Amino acid sequence: MDQTGFFPALLEAISAVYQAEADPQGPHTAKTLTVTPSPVAFDPVPPCVLDQGIRTVLASSDHPAARAALKAHDLLPWGSNPVEGNTESSIAAMISVATLLGPEGPIPAPDVRLGLVYMRPESYYPLHLHDADETYAIIAGQALWTAGDDVRMRGAGDMIHHPSLMPHAFRTGPEGFLAIWRWSGDINTHSYAFTEDQALQLQV
Ligand SMILES: [Fe+2]
Repeated sequence: MDQTGFFPALLEAISAVYQAEADPQGPHTAKTLTVTPSPVAFDPVPPCVLDQGIRTVLASSDHPAARAALKAHDLLPWGSNPVEGNTESSIAAMISVATLLGPEGPIPAPDVRLGLVYMRPESYYPLHLHDADETYAIIAGQALWTAGDDVRMRGAGDMIHHPSLMPHAFRTGPEGFLAIWRWSGDINTHSYAFTEDQALQLQV
């Protein structure tokens, strides 16, 4: 497969992951995820967003989206975090987002935001919330994951749902994690807010 096929292959893999949700007709499931067969033009990509550790995990993973994500990595619009303006630079530095679908594109989608999220090793992203329903599907790596009162390790193959306004936080280990991320429901970005002292937590 040449490079032009890597991006459609990634979209197909992502689509398959969400089709595997337990209740595809459930209230938290975004109905809009259509694989586009047409080429999509992105802006130039910053090199080497993914650290070598997570690349190694992806290369040896049997997760259906892992190798597709690795192959398409250099084609993706990394850094386009839709809530970038709501976060401090210290937090923005620990996470990279490649938005693939959303109201602002690059693939137009009026009622869903979807992309890949990479969180770097040994990082803590403090408790935060937003109006949107959110679903993470972890492709590689792991994190101590807080979703409301549920705090436990989550790793590749896990799908975690945050209903609207549920506080959530992540603490990564030596590999960080790569996940598919999706917002559905009320996908406004202005409601994004932290619920604990960021400065205090970042010192931990
Ligand atoms: Fe979130």
